[in-house]
Amino acid sequence: MSQPTTTEPPSKDVVRTSENQLFCCKSIDKLISEAEDPERKLKKTLGPWSLTALGIGAIIGSGIFVLTGTAAAGEYFQAPSILHAQVLDIIVNFLRGGGTAQVLMHGRPPAGPSIAISFFLVAIACSFAGLCYAELASMIPIAGSAYTYSYATLGEIFAWIIGWDLILEYVVSNVVVAIGFSAYTKAQLSSFGLNLPDRWSTPVWESGHWTGAYFNVPAFLIIFILTVLLVRGIKESAEANNVMVLIKISAILIFLVVGGALVHPGNWKPFAPSGFGGVVTGGAIVFFTYIGFDSVSTAAEEARNPQRDLPIGIIASLIVCTLLYVGVSIVLLGMMRYTTFISGDAAQAPVAYALKALGASRWSQSIIVIGALTGMISSLLVFQYGQARIWYAMSRDRLFPKMFSAVHKKFQTPHISTWIAGFVVGIPSGIFAISDAADLSNIGTLFAFVLVSLGVIILRRTQPDRPRVFKVPLVPWFPLISIVLCGGLMTGLTVITWVRFVVWLVLGLLIYIFYSRHRSEFARK
Ligand code: ALA
Repeated sequence: MSQPTTTEPPSKDVVRTSENQLFCCKSIDKLISEAEDPERKLKKTLGPWSLTALGIGAIIGSGIFVLTGTAAAGEYFQAPSILHAQVLDIIVNFLRGGGTAQVLMHGRPPAGPSIAISFFLVAIACSFAGLCYAELASMIPIAGSAYTYSYATLGEIFAWIIGWDLILEYVVSNVVVAIGFSAYTKAQLSSFGLNLPDRWSTPVWESGHWTGAYFNVPAFLIIFILTVLLVRGIKESAEANNVMVLIKISAILIFLVVGGALVHPGNWKPFAPSGFGGVVTGGAIVFFTYIGFDSVSTAAEEARNPQRDLPIGIIASLIVCTLLYVGVSIVLLGMMRYTTFISGDAAQAPVAYALKALGASRWSQSIIVIGALTGMISSLLVFQYGQARIWYAMSRDRLFPKMFSAVHKKFQTPHISTWIAGFVVGIPSGIFAISDAADLSNIGTLFAFVLVSLGVIILRRTQPDRPRVFKVPLVPWFPLISIVLCGGLMTGLTVITWVRFVVWLVLGLLIYIFYSRHRSEFARK
């Protein structure tokens, strides 16, 4: 079992790094020593392959199978509203002195086949953020991801904001994936002649109205089953994840071959119907497909050799996914014209739709769809895993109630957090439709990336001598590039997404002010 490197003896005493509680930082040595507390210690079972598989498992979920078509086709609302406008568009028009008159309020412009460029550019933004994650994860190998890093670098209030923000990333994105899982399962079962009743397999609430359905059972059920698996132990779950990752990569490769044979090069023209603006807007949407590589760092406490293996896991999983995503988007947009994917089945399941419409064989369609479903399961698994561990870390710091950090005596997993995460995701998955949830997840994650990148710069100044097995090159430039690229993608999102994000943050701040602040180790007694 590897021991984290420390430069000072660990201390149990509270060391205040600031007179103001909001800016107090946790000592990295203390974080490490607390994680070693036998009462609350997690099992160390994960190596570099498992961590890379964990990353790929989280990254490739429903996004590539659901959002590629809609991001390429754009979005159109009948009624214009400032809430549908992109923040970037508003900023540009204000800078030009044009006010909001020229702002596009009917929805998003189509990226067309240039969505392949969006995938590539987003991967570059994620790589810079990934390097920052890798440096901090290998220095601070503690559960909790960006939450823990910001507690050690920026101070308690930032840690709270980021922890609260990560809940948005993990919970909302898993709600999206579970609903996508249910839709694809229903479609696949019906192709086998088994029709699930709509009332028990579709969203209850959609686009502001009740649909008449009772509950989306497949969406809830998949979360419930994965929760049982996670409570029973990470080793079993990681092994199941490795198998699922192999299956979904194979399914995507089969799609590239089968779909590649059905490409009509004429569909690639016009390549970029909305120019660079469309590429950025598309990027802000398909960013969702990359969410997850950061979750590798949430497994730090369960990694056998975190200092070496976490950076490997993060970077390797990003490279593999970028190659697959760019390939899928080039093939899909070559199979059918981008405008096909604007609505209906073509928008909800573009990959399955294109294969069926162009007459691909039944067995290849089934293999690809079942592979896609497997991908969604492994993505759900890793996010449920990461969510429980962030709550576990926040509870260990007393910002969340104590029960969240209880560890199961036999299975050595944070079972209560895992069960709560199961219901917090499972119940909304059974009720809501996908709609804007993906955007909300994107903004939360991008914000976390900005704070992590900032953390690297600050820590290099405040703790320059602490050992770093992995170092981001050219600091502060690389983290600054990460901040600019991630911040830029945030401006590609709509005003309504920003409004929802701010409401979520304000709610979190109220909980911090009235509850967590008084329980923190830095609270004045
Ligand atoms: N990246 C994950 C997906 O594409 C969330 O579904």
